[in-house]
Amino acid sequence: MEKKIKVKICIGTLCYVMGGSELQLLEEHLPEELKKRVDIEGSICLGFCNSNEDEKPPFASVNGKCVSRASITKLINQIKKELEDGLH
Ligand code: FES
Repeated sequence: MEKKIKVKICIGTLCYVMGGSELQLLEEHLPEELKKRVDIEGSICLGFCNSNEDEKPPFASVNGKCVSRASITKLINQIKKELEDGLH
């Protein structure tokens, strides 16, 4: 079975108020061909808001890699990149 890309969306207060609430809709916006390849879960504070002074919320992670100032477009691009990297 193909490995799925794991996406965690921070639903901690800081990320949520900085735009993370919109990221909950990621699944609806995923192109059809990506839907089966991605596992999305919400997570309380991912810890990035404390450790990354230069990076700004909302945070999410794709296969464990931090995505700052996350937007739906940014997450979809990162998912595609992970899928491409997985092919090499
Ligand atoms: S509240 Fe989102 S990483 Fe901490």
